[in-house]
Amino acid sequence: MGKTILITGGAGFVGSSLALHLKAESPQDRVISFDNLRRRGSELNIPRLKANGIEFIHGDVRSAADVGGLPPFDLLIECSAEPSVMAGYGADARYVVDTNLMGTVNCLEAAAQYKADVLFMSTSRVYPIAAINELCVESEKGFTLREGATPGATKMGIAEDFPLAGIRSLYGATKLASELLIAEYAEIHGLRAVVNRCGVIAGPWQMGKTDQGFVLLWIARHHWELPLSYIGFGGKGSQVRDVLHIDDLCELIGTQVGAMEELQGKTFNVGGGAANSASLRGFTELSASITGNRITVASDPAERPGDLKLYVTDNSRVSEATGWAPRRNLPTLVADSYQWLLDNEDLLRPILS
Ligand SMILES: NC(=O)c1ccc[n+]([C@@H]2O[C@H](COP(=O)([O-])OP(=O)(O)OC[C@H]3O[C@@H](n4cnc5c(N)ncnc54)[C@H](O)[C@@H]3O)[C@@H](O)[C@H]2O)c1
Repeated sequence: MGKTILITGGAGFVGSSLALHLKAESPQDRVISFDNLRRRGSELNIPRLKANGIEFIHGDVRSAADVGGLPPFDLLIECSAEPSVMAGYGADARYVVDTNLMGTVNCLEAAAQYKADVLFMSTSRVYPIAAINELCVESEKGFTLREGATPGATKMGIAEDFPLAGIRSLYGATKLASELLIAEYAEIHGLRAVVNRCGVIAGPWQMGKTDQGFVLLWIARHHWELPLSYIGFGGKGSQVRDVLHIDDLCELIGTQVGAMEELQGKTFNVGGGAANSASLRGFTELSASITGNRITVASDPAERPGDLKLYVTDNSRVSEATGWAPRRNLPTLVADSYQWLLDNEDLLRPILS
């Protein structure tokens, strides 16, 4: 008999990709994908999950009854979220808090009941916005990080010892609060838990939107020649992000699942790293080159709340602990994503355009 793996948010981009990867790696395991299908496009994953022997259960992490009613499990991978940094700005904040924080509590209560291992999808957004933006200088390549001024900020990117004091968005705050609760539950109940603070992830099956999943949105807008804007910091497209291919993330988590004993209690920054980073202008070039379409990107200089000038992941700690490093570069990521879009064009047009 294999183990039972519960993936919350298991019909989303990361959750469904992980479910398929882990089931393929270990077919004797029972993999349950639990999701309330709030994210438009997540419903498209259900047929491929089922076709590959993964059980889908419709439910909501905000509901203690839904989570409490799930079958016993050995490992929880928490991938459910309201993942927008914009959530709660100028609107009711309860969905993001109830899902990202209270949902974690419901999941941890169930994990405690079954003494299950916990793998938590956190975010680079736990690091404070102003502290990062103050370190950025603008050049032709876009923003770069001024080194040496702050611990945890080097040419490699942002490391785990970057100071945490400051405002980080409700999204980041609910994730950081969840991390703190995970440590307490692990201590009280003797659970083995690992936290991955991920930077931008992208690849096939990401239902890209302006506020989350910009790489797929960028490619799609080029493909269909639809409007696109550089927003904030002068509207020049100088913001820089590293991007991790979803298959690289799946490989890392596959490794972590097999090493919970030695990795328990650890928090890792996880991302594409400096070698896989580019400015928005760079993503425009990549998108124009893969689609063969060059569109005029409009400019809107007004900043959006919560935006970062730069985020690049320093993967040193996770690489040292697991031997993992990203293997797929940005051109591969863009090519894989574009092929998926072409293969599913009719299905995706209403979601990505
Ligand atoms: N994609 C990224 O770039 C990225 C980066 C850093 C961290 N993360 C984290 O990784 C995890 C997965 O993100 P993703 O990119 O797959 O996002 P996603 O939106 O594709 O997936 C999240 C899933 O959670 C589901 N969901 C939302 N509210 C729920 C609720 N109350 N109950 C049950 N299900 C609910 C949605 O329907 C969706 O299928 C999230 O925790 C996110 O914060 C993602």
